[in-house]
Order: sequence, then structure tokens, then C-alpha cells
Amino acid sequence: MKTAYGDPALDGLAAILLRDSCGCAECRDFGSGQRLGSITDLPADVSVLETRAAGNSVVVIFGPDGHRAVFSRAWLAEQRSAPEDDRTEDAKRLWTAGEATIGSGDQSWSRYLADEGHRERCLAALLRDGFFLLRDVPCRPGTVLAVAASMGYVRETNYGRLFDVRVEATPANLAFTGLPIAPHTDNPYRDPVPTVQLLHCLSTAVKGGDSGLVDGFLAAARLRAENPVAFEILTRTPVTFAYSDATAELRATRPMIGLDPHGRIREVRVNHRSMQPLRPGREGSAEQTSAFYAAYRTFAEMVTRPDLMLTFRLCPGDCVVFDNTRILHARTGFAATGERHLQGCYADLDGVASALALLRRTRRATG
Ligand code: OGA
Ligand code: ZN
Ligand code: ZN
Repeated sequence: MKTAYGDPALDGLAAILLRDSCGCAECRDFGSGQRLGSITDLPADVSVLETRAAGNSVVVIFGPDGHRAVFSRAWLAEQRSAPEDDRTEDAKRLWTAGEATIGSGDQSWSRYLADEGHRERCLAALLRDGFFLLRDVPCRPGTVLAVAASMGYVRETNYGRLFDVRVEATPANLAFTGLPIAPHTDNPYRDPVPTVQLLHCLSTAVKGGDSGLVDGFLAAARLRAENPVAFEILTRTPVTFAYSDATAELRATRPMIGLDPHGRIREVRVNHRSMQPLRPGREGSAEQTSAFYAAYRTFAEMVTRPDLMLTFRLCPGDCVVFDNTRILHARTGFAATGERHLQGCYADLDGVASALALLRRTRRATG
């Protein structure tokens, strides 16, 4: 087979990519490995003049300046298999209610803290399935912050570092009433949105207030299969979500179903409480607006289908952790006079991915 640069290990890799990837002391800071120069410092007419095999490496001489780089074959192979963005549907295990279980096995907080392998599996489940449940998390106020700290950093919001979910006399949010709440994602009026949500149950002495989780990526993928026109509309129509109270005035505008540049599902934002009316001037004619609402209704029906909703009851000590860019959460109503108290907080998915990578790194290092 003919290879462009004389060594098949380099096939498919552009000369400029290789030149920009040079790891020599002239190109990279020794300690951090970061690039010293910028793309504009490289010759625009870079070419590969010569390649030479050297053990497990390939030496490359570039034109026009004769710069010399050494690439390990392992690195060259990695460039073809390197994982891409792992936030999209392709990197996830999508589930229906019948395919998902929550809190089976020993999901205790003490095991999570003591057993790094188990913690690794919990964080991997959060990234792959979109959620995991911890049990026996001490019912002391503030403990949800320790759970968040175990997987990255708390994302503080206008609701505070943590927020209390219980019935309030003058609620600024329907979460702080006994009303049922339809499947939704939190804080769609933030950009960036908090990407991980935690809810820790401190007490429940009421009937009702049961929880539901829905895989929003699966729902969106079903919509794409069953009603491609509606799917397309929801990926293209900018929707504004807003929230306002005495201390905050927030708004963000995004499509309900966000795609990556390859057209893969990457984010859902669904929240009827805070969604603003579509602007007819900007989002098109009244007909287009009606088509949007019809598509939205179809999607909203999809996410409330019983076969998609994983239902469970948060008991005192339970802490559910989920991907707020993917999983919709819901609760049934309960008597506003009963005692029910959750504490919640937010964290970041990239922090979770980092914590998981560190656990894996430690495991590899210790064999
Ligand atoms: C929330 C919420 C659900 C519940 O606080 O964001 O949706 O179970 N709460 O109370
Ligand atoms: Zn170099
Ligand atoms: Zn919520």
C-alpha cells in the first residue's frame, strides 16, 4: 500500500497536525508539556520532507525549515482511536424504565468513601447512565456538600451553595411547595447550566413526594425516530428560559435539544415552569411558532410516558446524583402540611470526569 509520508503510521495525519504536535524542547515547555508557540508561529506551507523509523518511534523532518520531530508509534496510533467528546449520546448507555435499576446492591456512603473501585464505578455510572444513588448518607444538614466534594467542586448558584427543598410559606419556586413537578431539568435559565445535580433526603414523613427520573437522551432519540420533523424543530428553535426573584434575574436561550457538530444529541433543557413565550418576530411566523409548540407537546408527552420514567422513593439518607444536561427529574405531589426535607446542590460533569480519570490513574499506578 502506498503511504503518503513513507511510513503507514503517519497515514491520515496532516503535516500541519504533526508539526503542531512536535514535542521537542523548542516547541514544548519541559515541565507542563504545554506548547510554547502559537499556530501563527508555524510555517503555513509546512510539509513532511522525510521520515525514518527509529525503534518504536518515527522521526519526521519537516519542510520548509528542516524542523525535526520524534513521534512514538503508540502516540501515532492513539491519534486515530482517541476518544472524542464523551458528552454525546454515542458515549452513553440509554435506558428505558424497564432497563434501569436504582440503588441495588450496597450503595452505602461508607462503602463509597472507603472503596475506590466502587467509587470509580459510581462515577462511571453517572457519566454512562446519567445517575447513581447513595444510601445511608448521614441525615445532617450540609452533608450533600461532602457528596459533591467527592466528585469535584460545588457549583454555587443564586440558590446558595446548597438549597433546601421543603414547603415554604412564600415559595419563589414551585419546588418549595407540595405540588407535583413534571419531568424537567434544573436551571435551564443558566448558561452554562449546572451539569450535575444532587438531592439528599433528610426526612420524608409524607405520603407522596415520590421521585422519577427520565433519560432525556433516550426520549430525544425516540422523538427523532418517531417524529423527525418535531425533533428537527426542537433542535433548531431557540427557547428562552427565565427566573426572577428578589435576588436574581436570570435568562438563557438555547434549543431544547442541543446537538454536537455531528448532529448527535448532547444536551436537553426542559422546564415548563420557566420557559418563556416564543418571540414571533425572531422565531418565525405564527405557523412556525405553532409547529414548535406541537413538537414541544410531543416531546413532553414522550418524557411522561410511564415506560420511560424510573420511579422510586427517596428515603432519609438517600442521595441521588444525576446529569442535569440529560436526565429529567420529577416528583409526585404531597400534603404541604407534612414534613419532607431534601437538600440539593450542583456540581460539574467535567469535574466528575476528572475525578474518575484520577481514580483510574491511581488504580493503574498501583496495579
Ligand atoms: C428540585 C426538584 C424534586 C423533589 O428541587 O429541583 O425538582 O423531589 N425537587 O422535591
Ligand atoms: Zn519541535
Ligand atoms: Zn428540579
